[in-house]
Amino acid sequence: MAPPPRSVTVVSLLLLLLSATMSVPAPVAAEADDEAALLAFKAAAIGGVSYGDTGTPLASWNSSGGAGGFCSWEGALNLSSNAFSGDIPASLGRLRRLQILDLSYNTFSGEIPANLSSCTSLLLMRLRFNQFRGHVPSELGDKLVNLVVLSLWNNSLTGTIPASLANLSSLNILSLGLIQLHGTIPPGLGGIQTLLHLDLNNNNLSGKLPKSLYNLSSLERLQVQGNMIQDKISASIGNRLSRLQILELYANQFTGPIPVSLSNLTALQILDLSENMLSGYVPREMGRSGSLQSLLLENNMLEADDKEGWEFITALSNCTEFTEFEIGVNAGLTGQLPSSIVNLTSVEFLRFDQSGISGSIPSAISNLLNLEVLGMSNTFISGVIPESIIKMANLGVIDFFNTELSGTIPLAIGNLTRLYILNAHHCNLGGPIPASKGRWQIC
Ligand SMILES: *[C@@H]1O[C@H](CO)[C@@H](O)[C@H](O)[C@H]1NC(C)=O
Ligand SMILES: *[C@@H]1O[C@H](CO)[C@@H](O)[C@H](O)[C@H]1NC(C)=O
Ligand SMILES: *[C@@H]1O[C@H](CO)[C@@H](O)[C@H](O)[C@H]1NC(C)=O
Ligand SMILES: *[C@@H]1O[C@H](CO)[C@@H](O)[C@H](O)[C@H]1NC(C)=O
Ligand SMILES: *[C@@H]1O[C@H](CO)[C@@H](O)[C@H](O)[C@H]1NC(C)=O
Ligand SMILES: *[C@@H]1O[C@H](CO)[C@@H](O)[C@H](O)[C@H]1NC(C)=O
Ligand SMILES: *[C@@H]1O[C@H](CO)[C@@H](O)[C@H](O)[C@H]1NC(C)=O
Ligand SMILES: *[C@@H]1O[C@H](CO)[C@@H](O)[C@H](O)[C@H]1NC(C)=O
Ligand SMILES: *[C@@H]1O[C@H](CO)[C@@H](O)[C@H](O)[C@H]1NC(C)=O
Ligand SMILES: *[C@@H]1O[C@H](CO)[C@@H](O)[C@H](O)[C@H]1NC(C)=O
Ligand SMILES: *[C@@H]1O[C@H](CO)[C@@H](O)[C@H](O)[C@H]1NC(C)=O
Repeated sequence: MAPPPRSVTVVSLLLLLLSATMSVPAPVAAEADDEAALLAFKAAAIGGVSYGDTGTPLASWNSSGGAGGFCSWEGALNLSSNAFSGDIPASLGRLRRLQILDLSYNTFSGEIPANLSSCTSLLLMRLRFNQFRGHVPSELGDKLVNLVVLSLWNNSLTGTIPASLANLSSLNILSLGLIQLHGTIPPGLGGIQTLLHLDLNNNNLSGKLPKSLYNLSSLERLQVQGNMIQDKISASIGNRLSRLQILELYANQFTGPIPVSLSNLTALQILDLSENMLSGYVPREMGRSGSLQSLLLENNMLEADDKEGWEFITALSNCTEFTEFEIGVNAGLTGQLPSSIVNLTSVEFLRFDQSGISGSIPSAISNLLNLEVLGMSNTFISGVIPESIIKMANLGVIDFFNTELSGTIPLAIGNLTRLYILNAHHCNLGGPIPASKGRWQIC
């Protein structure tokens, strides 16, 4: 995983500062009301992890009102990574001064109370990784207009994305992944100009990507993978979403070409367009900006032959942190394995299994000293396995299954101590089976 971009850190700092300014004394009546709400929450949230002498994180919330008790509460309620379960009470909605509500990584269940929309001071609401059921309350979008972060990632919700969320005009992060939503993406989300991360992964969303999303010019992460989106990727994506660092559209039904404009993205680190129906050539300058770390295009209908389509590999050698390159399951990628591949010296995962690639493995493949996985199965690769392969000390998996390789397996391959899978079935390889210093098996 890439480190979080700087902007997120800035957001968290901002939130910290804001919560630190919350110790201003509040009117007594409001405090009593908050206290009642907290005590109701305490009664409902059962099963917190014990922290030895200090008891559960909720133990100090009682009516004593003394130092360390309720009165020192600063508008931030962070119970993340505990073992709380049960419902969260609707009375939590009475905590009007609450700015931060982080209940992540617990097993809260029940519905998300619509009354939380009364916590109009909320800047951050993270309910991710729980077992909430029911719908995303549309009331949240009508009233929590100060929200900067809304994360409901990984819950057991159903229903659709409420169009009202478009009202959250200060949002930096909207994370609605893995919560079983269906229906279409509300076009209004494209009006939230402050969005940095939009994560809708692994739902059952259908229809097209609203054109308005290409208006989110600050966007750094767009994650829509694992849905049923049927669309073309806008040709202008690389010029309109010019700050993209992560673009994950895999496992959908995108058709048409990979937009050439994507090679204009100077900050792009992860491009995952696998498992779609994309066709045509990979843009010849993909990666020229040097920032790309992962290029994952497997399982599409991409093309290349000896005349055209492989130029992008030359551009990729500009990417000094390039580690993952997977273009398998594209029958239309044909022609000789481009020799320029030997210049991708940082690559760790290289897979082009189930493609139409032919030709032999260049001896200079041993330039790829970081390579851990080399997948060439079900291709037309021929010739001998170069002796130089034994210099690639990090190799863990070599998959030559069902190729046209011939000759013998270099005896010294047994010197690759990290190798644990060597799959060489259905080749024309002969000769003795080398002894191994590692624990690999010829499958
Ligand atoms: C109330 O909280 C204070 C501060 O943590 C603690 O010392 C006290 O024992 C608590 N009282 C009750 C009745 O739980
Ligand atoms: C809540 O606490 C957890 C763990 O202590 C921390 O990782 C998380 O960032 C906190 N949430 C907020 C909003 O500060
Ligand atoms: C829900 O919110 C409404 C309006 O703020 C309030 O009247 C009602 O008491 C709340 N319900 C609960 C259970 O707190
Ligand atoms: C989602 O949460 C469940 C527990 O509620 C957990 O088992 C599962 O691994 C989580 N999924 C992901 C992708 O983290
Ligand atoms: C919020 O959005 C909905 C749907 O887009 C709209 O009907 C409603 O008027 C908006 N509410 C506010 C307070 O802006
Ligand atoms: C997703 O939606 C399709 C049709 O809209 C439906 O057939 C399918 O069962 C849904 N899948 C899930 C996991 O909800
Ligand atoms: C994108 O933004 C422009 C200017 O703010 C606006 O005129 C246009 O309608 C928006 N496009 C879409 C598809 O929302
Ligand atoms: C890339 O950006 C340049 C400068 O902004 C622009 O002239 C060019 O048309 C863009 N390329 C593509 C393919 O959109
Ligand atoms: C590599 O980057 C340099 C500087 O940005 C650029 O001039 C060059 O064209 C790039 N090379 C390729 C093959 O794209
Ligand atoms: C590798 O890169 C160098 C420097 O850019 C270049 O001269 C050479 O031709 C490349 N090798 C291959 C096989 O493309
Ligand atoms: C393999 O290792 C053995 C002993 O460590 C060494 O003698 C031999 O030269 C090595 N083979 C190659 C080809 O590096």
